[in-house]
Amino acid sequence: MTTAPPADRSGMLTRRARLLSPTYRLFYEQPLQLVRAAGVWMYDEQGRAYLDAYNNVPVVGHCHPYVVEALTRQARTLNTHTRYLAEQPLQLAEELLASMPPELGRVVYTCTGSEANDLAVRVSKAVTGGSGFIVTDFAYHGVTDVLAGMSPEDGGPLGPGVYSAPSPAAAARLARIVNDLPAALARRTGALEREEALRMPDLAHAAAARAGLRLRAGLRA
Ligand SMILES: Cc1ncc(COP(=O)(O)O)c(C=O)c1O
Repeated sequence: MTTAPPADRSGMLTRRARLLSPTYRLFYEQPLQLVRAAGVWMYDEQGRAYLDAYNNVPVVGHCHPYVVEALTRQARTLNTHTRYLAEQPLQLAEELLASMPPELGRVVYTCTGSEANDLAVRVSKAVTGGSGFIVTDFAYHGVTDVLAGMSPEDGGPLGPGVYSAPSPAAAARLARIVNDLPAALARRTGALEREEALRMPDLAHAAAARAGLRLRAGLRA
């Protein structure tokens, strides 16, 4: 496999646009080019270190030597599916279940977050008999057809029976902004009648009531 010289940022952008699906998106106006990571740090092509407070993939830190060694050893030994008897999936299940509450008594392995979430949708439908789902505004849950309909972040339509609601943290932030708004507006404009400004929270309450209705409709679905 050939790689571009690390500093050829514009060449990489061009190749990326030519080679990868347009659904792949880059972070930041000046995209980061990362070349390695270790523990909590990620490094760009100039060796600059970034504290990683974002990624959800390496839960024990990037490139943990124990994980890398176990992956390498297994890739060298056997890499197949679960329709044969093998010791490793059983051992891992025993270790995982030992850390879980007793009602969680069986394991299903998945390779990606999308697969795990899709499976969670199927399990929850089977267990409850329901079909409605509430997701938080701007959520991203994955790439499958069902999960695309549960990912308002992507801007597409919500799937049938899916309703979005503000996250509790976002709702608290919004409430703070709405409460502070009249004073802030009065301070900024001076010309704005205080009375008129005081009516503004009503609009927000009406919006919240509408969101509540959507939520209740979702719960009935
Ligand atoms: C919150 C969340 N859910 C689901 C996913 C999908 O995971 P995957 O890309 O492994 O399918 C991601 C991936 O970024 C995620 O951040």
